[in-house]
Amino acid sequence: MWTQCWIDYSNLPKNSQAYAGYFSALYVDGFKKDEVISTAYGELKKAAEGLYGCTPEVELEVPESGIAFIRSEDESLGKEGYRIHVKDNVAFIEAATSAAVIYATFRLLALIRTSALTPDTDITEVPDNPIRMLDHWDNMDGSIERGYSGNSFFFEDNDLVINERTTDYARLIASVGINAVAINNVNVKDAATDLVNDRFIAKVSRLTEIFACYGIKMFLSLNYAMPIEYEPASADPLDPAVREWWKHKMDEIYRAVPGLGGFLVKADSEGRPGPFTYGRNQADGANMLAEAIKPHGGIIIWRCFVYNCQQDWRDLKTDRARAGYDYFSSLDGEFADNVILQIKNGPMDFQPREPVSPLFGGLRKTNQILEVQIAQEYTGHQIDLCYLIPWFKQILAFETYMNNDPESDTTVAGIIGGRARKGSTGGMVAVTNTGNDENWTGNDLAAANLYGFGRLAWDTSLAAEDIAREWTSLTYAGDAEKQTADGERAGDLILRLLMGSWPTYEKYTAPLGIGWMVKVHDHYGPSVEGYEYDRWGTYIRADWEGLGVERGPEGTGFALQYNGPNKEMFSDIEKTPDELILFFHKTKYTHVLHSGKTVIQHIYDTHFEGYDEVLKMQKDWQKLKGLIDERSFANVSERFERQAANAREWCDIVNSYFHRRCGIDDEKGRTIY
Ligand code: GCU
Repeated sequence: MWTQCWIDYSNLPKNSQAYAGYFSALYVDGFKKDEVISTAYGELKKAAEGLYGCTPEVELEVPESGIAFIRSEDESLGKEGYRIHVKDNVAFIEAATSAAVIYATFRLLALIRTSALTPDTDITEVPDNPIRMLDHWDNMDGSIERGYSGNSFFFEDNDLVINERTTDYARLIASVGINAVAINNVNVKDAATDLVNDRFIAKVSRLTEIFACYGIKMFLSLNYAMPIEYEPASADPLDPAVREWWKHKMDEIYRAVPGLGGFLVKADSEGRPGPFTYGRNQADGANMLAEAIKPHGGIIIWRCFVYNCQQDWRDLKTDRARAGYDYFSSLDGEFADNVILQIKNGPMDFQPREPVSPLFGGLRKTNQILEVQIAQEYTGHQIDLCYLIPWFKQILAFETYMNNDPESDTTVAGIIGGRARKGSTGGMVAVTNTGNDENWTGNDLAAANLYGFGRLAWDTSLAAEDIAREWTSLTYAGDAEKQTADGERAGDLILRLLMGSWPTYEKYTAPLGIGWMVKVHDHYGPSVEGYEYDRWGTYIRADWEGLGVERGPEGTGFALQYNGPNKEMFSDIEKTPDELILFFHKTKYTHVLHSGKTVIQHIYDTHFEGYDEVLKMQKDWQKLKGLIDERSFANVSERFERQAANAREWCDIVNSYFHRRCGIDDEKGRTIY
């Protein structure tokens, strides 16, 4: 069996009896009894049974106490927004669509379970992002690319798996407002190509329906080169025969799977085929598919992760960081309306710290989705604790200076939420961190990233700390209220660990935005020069005098891809924020940072500190023994043990490497090997 994470109703919240009355009855007004409304009722029933051992009766009039779903005509709620308010002993959910009722039902349950529902509650919530999506990198053989929590629960032995867990997954993600999911790896190979063929299409359709009951649109990753295997024997996007082929194909697909949201495409990247093969550009490729899918109302999500992965390390001019902007910025305005570009948060690849991609603010006439990664590929494999929401908050808040209109919100959050340009659409997607492990996410605490991503994508103004507090209260419920021997609330201790974890991780791994000092291929553990003489364009360029890639005007010019003040800031070593200095500049070890420390002393200090902080987190966790569920306690204890070993390796290897390179001693005389 598997756990229910933050929607486990056997784990009683603190004030549990105070809310029992709401679960006695349900009244529904104005909604057709469709599958989604039935699902919402089913969720109330589950909660009622789990929390209070009762079943809400469906009543034909507003009950004396209970919950009421009321169809609202209020246009400001849009398709997904809702109002929750309390009158007398009834909690009212008002919404325009049944999908919104699902979101509201889970929200109401969360308010109840965190004792946040009061007689005065009156909240209206409308999502900030039209698209709130999870991308699975699941392969049909059951493996997961960059998966750290077991195998896929969608695929096994080159077939689809549909069982109770599928529904539980849909519940879990709908409960935090996710409305789209792509189930297969962006690297579409072998059997995965057949997901849109007769071989699997009936099962794909069933899966789509399961998600639809929770208001979620399912997507598939698509093999761009598919028509090569068929009559046109080409994938040239401007070839009429290829375009015709795709039109027929989309007709066929949508006949079988009318509810499909559309497709996610990785083209011309890391060995995947694409329009470049035919001398065409990315817009040609995306628009061809968009045209074919348009009659069916589907969308094409086209990734901007396009770069040359066959670089010569001797070539000091080519800069992978530039690639996304170089390939896509000149195509701004050329993409069809039903194309959305999916842009990774940074210009490289999900490092623990990177600047925001200059495509945000560089594209002014194109729909955009921000892609982040909660699968902890470069952030500790869900062995190390790394709560990523504080990082995502910084990314969303980045001011792009996209235009000079003070009325429009041109932060990343504003752009993807459609507030920077009228008529645009977009959203947020995370490469997800789930698998078929008992607890879904490998490390129990990594579930905070899944929860947090959903909540943040819904409401980008939420504070990372509030999200973590909510998750902790829902997950550990009554146990979160218990006190440790030194008088700290268990929930507060867990919250403290989560909030400190990303800064700690950054300290012992990647100082000052350098990134990439990881072991090749699997990306866990240190290998300072692992990628230095390789073809991936991921260099640190350390020598006896300093380290970092010069990306200012005298270097690769990457800094010039930003707008206005950002361009000036990143171009100038004196103005570049400390945390990104090595990303933008080749910097001497003796350079004095804004913090007043030299680069080398910063490296030594942060690595020693980071390791010490991990030991402290590990020790703190032990204080929860006997207070929280034994399984969860053991799961995280075991992970901290491995994290401590990892942090020690990082600390000693990085410090020794740089000490040997530059010969400058640690001011504090600590042991360096
Ligand atoms: C990273 C990751 C790959 C993945 C790629 C992508 O490079 O290591 O496994 O395929 O990103 O985002 O497509």
